[in-house]
Amino acid sequence: MISKDHPGDGEVLAFDLYGTLVDPTAVSSELGQVLGDLDGREAARLWRLKQLEYTFRLTAMGRYEDFRWVTERALGFALASLGVSLPDKQARWLTDLYDHLLPFPDAVPALRALTDNGYELAVLSNGNPAMIRNCLANGGLEEFFGQRISADEVRAFKPSPLVYQHAAERLACPAGQVRLVTSNAFDSVGASAAGMRTAWINRAAAPFDTIGTQPDLTVPALGRLPAALADAR
Ligand code: 2OP
Repeated sequence: MISKDHPGDGEVLAFDLYGTLVDPTAVSSELGQVLGDLDGREAARLWRLKQLEYTFRLTAMGRYEDFRWVTERALGFALASLGVSLPDKQARWLTDLYDHLLPFPDAVPALRALTDNGYELAVLSNGNPAMIRNCLANGGLEEFFGQRISADEVRAFKPSPLVYQHAAERLACPAGQVRLVTSNAFDSVGASAAGMRTAWINRAAAPFDTIGTQPDLTVPALGRLPAALADAR
């Protein structure tokens, strides 16, 4: 029998941050104030897509700039695509919103239930350490995470295996005993390739990627994770 002290055979749950615990597309309302509603939503979409694309490209080139730098440059691209140029101060204000992203409504109840069930929780994010710290503090999520692991520590972004291997080392357990919880399909595929277990939070009812390993668990919301983990035992 698995005791409450060691749920899931002692597995550690490593949570992705942006898109999983907090919503990066929520910046569309502030972008909407600056650009008008329609362009605000489109800018938020383009911003996030370009941000991820830049992380993939930098890592493929063997080059590193931190996630804040990437986020600023991606915003510049999104605005330019819409024919907008903002004063530096306003662009900085928009990038700073990454320190204030709100948690998805089901995040806190799910994290509390998992903590009560005895799970050890960690964050594993592309965000630099200051971004992770500020986002967790401002979102009221700090108390749940003893370990905050940043891709910055290995100067490479997900899905580089270096990031997942480093996380397992920081958590002092084999990769196979870490379950990455993420809503980003590329992150789930990357974690599986590095030997981790995975749980995919598919809020958008989207198809999964057509390359790489399917997630070990799929749930439509974080709130369903505690029960799904219990069922999977
Ligand atoms: C994160 O690492 C991929 O943005 C995502 O938090």
